[in-house]
Amino acid sequence: MAVLPIVRMGNPVLRTAAAPVPQETLAEPATQQWIDDMIETMHDADGVGLAAPQVGVAWQLFVYQAEDDEDPAAGIPLAVIVNPMIEPLAGEPVFDWEGCLSIPDLRGLVPRHPALRLRGVDRHGRPIDRVVEGFEARIVQHEFDHLNGVLFLDRMRDLASLSFLDEWQEFLRGAGDDGPHAKAE
Ligand code: NI
Repeated sequence: MAVLPIVRMGNPVLRTAAAPVPQETLAEPATQQWIDDMIETMHDADGVGLAAPQVGVAWQLFVYQAEDDEDPAAGIPLAVIVNPMIEPLAGEPVFDWEGCLSIPDLRGLVPRHPALRLRGVDRHGRPIDRVVEGFEARIVQHEFDHLNGVLFLDRMRDLASLSFLDEWQEFLRGAGDDGPHAKAE
């Protein structure tokens, strides 16, 4: 496995609409190896999610995982999502902090749908159709946006909360903002 370079804001691939991954391409050993590299890259960066455009590949694929050392039951298991569609479910937008591995060391408050229906396929082409909510729904919306050339800054309603990570840790982080919620994706 290998850690892939993560591209940063300014690279045009982050503003490009990603293409669906063909089923036969997904099954190729090189693609499966690359998915393993995506996972390793996310872990190496200590992130909770990573979308293909962030490693320079305009494919509709993302990975996510959020271990919670304080509360293992609250952790989000590893997921590989290919060719996703999302459908927001009813509920008022929820504001919470986000950071992005392609916009290092910034945090900002972003509104997201509290729950959504996620459809697509997994790394083996098996259908996925499930409802995700809370922090997982937030991660999925952040990663899904990456597949459409959208960054979390675009989703902020007020840039007044935009903060460098060290200042955020000193001044803005709340009691519930530790653990995976403080990580980038
Ligand atoms: Ni991101």
